[in-house]
Formats: sequence, structure tokens, C-alpha cells
Amino acid sequence: MLTNTQKAAYQETGYLVLEECFSASQMETLKQAALKIVDDFDPNSTRSVFSTQDQTKTRDDYFLSSGDKVRCFFEEDAFDEKGELKQAKSLSINKIGHALHTLSPEFRDFSHNETIKNIAMDLGQQKPQIHQSMYIFKQPKIGGVIRWHQDATYFLTAPISVITFWFAVEDATIENGCLQVQSGGDPIPLKEVFVRYPDDKTELKQLHDMPWPEDSCAKPLEVKKGSLVVFNGELPHFSAPNISNKSRHAYTLHITCGNTEYATENWLQAKPSCL
Ligand code: FE2
Repeated sequence: MLTNTQKAAYQETGYLVLEECFSASQMETLKQAALKIVDDFDPNSTRSVFSTQDQTKTRDDYFLSSGDKVRCFFEEDAFDEKGELKQAKSLSINKIGHALHTLSPEFRDFSHNETIKNIAMDLGQQKPQIHQSMYIFKQPKIGGVIRWHQDATYFLTAPISVITFWFAVEDATIENGCLQVQSGGDPIPLKEVFVRYPDDKTELKQLHDMPWPEDSCAKPLEVKKGSLVVFNGELPHFSAPNISNKSRHAYTLHITCGNTEYATENWLQAKPSCL
């Protein structure tokens, strides 16, 4: 599937862009499936999660128990003080997670295709398994910044094996908040680990105090609909706010290697799905 040049580029830089690897119609199928999930979702069912006083705890519970479910997550400040949505429901959702790849027929079919499996194996995973899927909306004007981070923080294995598959469901540009990855500068060993304790308290543990890359080392990955970006668990990346009038939908999979040891402290403990 991948050429030796592509494999070498991934080893060297930590990421690879596969332009228009998937068809527009495949992306459209995912988009329509995501919009249908939002359409069917009753915001009243979770209004309390996002607008009650004990917000932090209820929000955490809603998140931490979503590993084997399909749940809609609202944008911050989606609700006003009276608990009413400030704008249309379809424009208030931040993302859907985290088991689309097993529970939604359209996402399940797409996620288990041979191309994804072959790429994962070409990049060194002997036994690729999907732990998580997310559909990210990055809404026009309100889709916010995602700060520098590394995905192995949330999917720790020994040794580190997670690969993120990031599919552009719509064109991603600097204006609508495309992915930006570290390119140049010193590599940064895993800096943070997100730990879930047995009592469901969580902590973002700092492993060292090397700084995140300078912004001058950030490379924006502007890609067309249908493109795939793959990157390793230690590659620092972020995305800027969406300041445009266009949404920036993306679908992501986090895939680890079944021959590694998956940390019992990872927040997500749902059974992975083999590719
Ligand atoms: Fe990430």
C-alpha cells in the first residue's frame, strides 16, 4: 500500500499526508451519518450534563462512560443561563464519540476497510486495533483551539504504538482550523499522561518540563476532502480556531498495536476492535 519513500518519510517526520486517499462519496456517507446522529439526538436528554451547577463532575462522567457508546458532546457555552441552546442544535455540537467504529453501520464499514488496515501494518503495527473513533465538527466561527498535545497521552501502550488516522471529511484550510503538526525543532518525548484512577478521578500528569514547540515549528496541513493524515503518538500537534464561515468536519481513529501492553490507567478501557 505505502511506498518505501512514504514509510521512510513517516519514520523521519512522524506523519504522512495521503492526498485524496478516499473518495468524496465515502466522505459524504460519513458526513450524512454524523448529521443523522445529531438530528436524532435530543439535547434535553443531556441538558443537565452541560448546564447544571455540578458541571465538572457530570461532564466528566458523561465523557468517561462514553468509550463504548455514541454520544454527542456540545461546544463549550452552547447553552445560555436558562439552559436553552444559543443556536441551532446542528451548530452546537463539538464532536461525536467514541465508539462510532463499532456502533454506527456507516462508520463501522468505513473504519474496517482494508486500506486502513494495510496502512497501519505498513507503519509497523503487526496487530492493529481500533480503540476510539470521533467525528469532529469544528463549527464555523465557534470551533475553538485545540492546544499542542500528543495523542499517546490518551492511548498509552508499552512501547508507545498509537497511530492517529485523521480523515478530512471536508476541505481543511488554515482559515477553518486545519491540523498543524511539529515540523522541525527537537523531538519531544511524551510530555503528559492522562490517568484515570479507580475512583474515576482523572489527572493530566506531567512527565517532564520541556516546552511545546515554537509556533514557527508548526506546519499547517491544508488538505482536500478525502485526504488522510496519519501521525504517531509522540508527534506534537494542535489546531487553531475556525475563524471562517465553513465547517471543518473530520473523522479520527486511534489505533494501537495489539502486541503492546495497553495501560490500565488509560481513560478508555472499552474492548478494542481488531482490523
Ligand atoms: Fe490529537
